[in-house]
Amino acid sequence: MEKLEKFTGVYNIEDHIATENLNTGKKVYGERLIEVDDKEYRIWEPRRSKLGAAIMNGMETFPFKTDSKILYLGASSGTTPSHISDIATNGTIWCVEFSPRMMRSLVELSRDRVNMVPLLDDATKPRNYLHLLEKVDILYSDVAQSKQSELFMENMRLYLKPEGIGIIMIKSRSIDVTQSPKKIFREEEKKLKTGGFKVLEKINLEPYEKDHLAMVCKFAF
Ligand SMILES: C[S@@+](CC[C@H](N)C(=O)[O-])C[C@H]1O[C@@H](n2cnc3c(N)ncnc32)[C@H](O)[C@@H]1O
Repeated sequence: MEKLEKFTGVYNIEDHIATENLNTGKKVYGERLIEVDDKEYRIWEPRRSKLGAAIMNGMETFPFKTDSKILYLGASSGTTPSHISDIATNGTIWCVEFSPRMMRSLVELSRDRVNMVPLLDDATKPRNYLHLLEKVDILYSDVAQSKQSELFMENMRLYLKPEGIGIIMIKSRSIDVTQSPKKIFREEEKKLKTGGFKVLEKINLEPYEKDHLAMVCKFAF
């Protein structure tokens, strides 16, 4: 089987993308495990992970490196964080999640993955975790909330390094079910621009996720 490195730690294997399993033999969300050249890879399912969907749809700015420090908002039970954890093997992923039920699975997962730090907290109150983490290279947000852009910007202003990259997964239906997704995406982009950020890339997540847009940005200065 042939394996090509697409981005740091992200491989094309057959028609799939995959990451090298940090925790050999263990699946996280029922994904397929395959062995190539004596190494084990986890197939990254784009229907289960919006970051996977963005990569499949041609994402160009992929900032994750082996030593990246990442703040992840809306970590849920850890599906996407687990792939980032396979990539940032010498880095740290602070995973904020406010659902105690999801947090239980996340804590369990973090036992095997030392680069993941679970934080049971509310991403709309970023000062709550001020004393728990340092400035990060990447801020990733996937909270499916009506004020998702606002909380994303607030967290970036507090935690993102000046040269850092922000990635937000915008779910239009969480903002307003009655408006067209296109209009909502335009408005959210405008909020980021007037908030002092430069949008580097926009990736529609169809057909993997309906009415979702990934936006990649950085500070405009
Ligand atoms: C779409 S899911 C995230 C899926 C996950 N990012 C992945 O790809 O594996 C959204 C998550 O955000 C969490 N969430 C929503 N609002 C939040 C908030 N204010 N603070 C922290 N977590 C929040 C929800 O509990 C839910 O688990």
